[in-house]
Amino acid sequence: MPQPRVFITRHLPGPALDFLKEKCRLEVWPGELPPPPPELRRQAAISDGILTLLTDAVDRPLFGAASDRLRVVSNMATGYDNIDVKAATEHAVLITRTPGVLSETTADFAFALILVVARRVVEADRYVRHGRWQTWGPETLLGCDVHDATLGIVGMGGIGRQVARRARGFGMRIFYNSRTAKPGLERRYRMQLVDLDRVFAESDIITLHAPLNPETRGMVNQGRLRLMKPSAVLVNTARGPLVDHAALHAALKEGRIAGAALDVTDPEPLPADHPLLSLENVVLTPHIASASIATRSRMAMLAAGQLVEALEGRPPRNVVNPSVIPRWRERMRESGGYGQKSAEMPFISP
Ligand code: GLV
Repeated sequence: MPQPRVFITRHLPGPALDFLKEKCRLEVWPGELPPPPPELRRQAAISDGILTLLTDAVDRPLFGAASDRLRVVSNMATGYDNIDVKAATEHAVLITRTPGVLSETTADFAFALILVVARRVVEADRYVRHGRWQTWGPETLLGCDVHDATLGIVGMGGIGRQVARRARGFGMRIFYNSRTAKPGLERRYRMQLVDLDRVFAESDIITLHAPLNPETRGMVNQGRLRLMKPSAVLVNTARGPLVDHAALHAALKEGRIAGAALDVTDPEPLPADHPLLSLENVVLTPHIASASIATRSRMAMLAAGQLVEALEGRPPRNVVNPSVIPRWRERMRESGGYGQKSAEMPFISP
């Protein structure tokens, strides 16, 4: 049986590409930037599977352009807001994602940002580098304590719970908000489920770990920011559009909240003249919360493994649209497997 044809939208860390090369005919997009949408659509028309990143728009036009042979889109991310899941389901294409393997690493980074923004570490670094430090000052760069503070966790999935685990070590009081109550975790981390407004009104530090969907888009709006204490800080390692950036800018500029640390923004990257870039009390990082060598290799390997499973006719574990599985099985049976046609492969990975 011919090998399936697979397109990968960027070079990947770790052993994932070697693994895929054994199983598939591979084309890897060679650019540092994502393939432009027409290229992605062209690939959808000639591939059995695609491995995508969160920067790729896997939209309805892509599924419209896809040929009958496209069976799976494996997204190397826990979030999948870059994918039109409804369109994928209509076309009987499996969508997979990579939850779990990045939770600890992302929680480490969320905690790093919590400490950095609460204790004004980046401002302090600038203060030293720019020659402003003259002497030890009893009132220099005062921040807020993290130990014993009240932490508000928005979203209690795999990452939220790892943040809670870390917060226990800092003796924090923990509020959380989630679509479903987690009584087991509440007992383990001594935390309390409260409504979103209470999270914002009573927390010293608020950290976002919710997925982006129509319900959560813009949840941190002017009203919620107004509920926050003037000493409180906001940390976002989830998705930029959860936060209304204009409202956040106003709150920070007017000193209505103490600071923010954003690993994700809307858009990404922010334009060079974006007003948030001019504020001292904002820490900005380039969407790197899961970026440890080990975790990015694990994510790539999980995405590659799920792609191969799907192409070999075994439903992978982390399918976003499981309702499609019976139709997908039917398609696999009808075609007698994958890879009906070979195609040009101009960008074979090394
Ligand atoms: C990163 O943001 C991810 O969704 O994995």
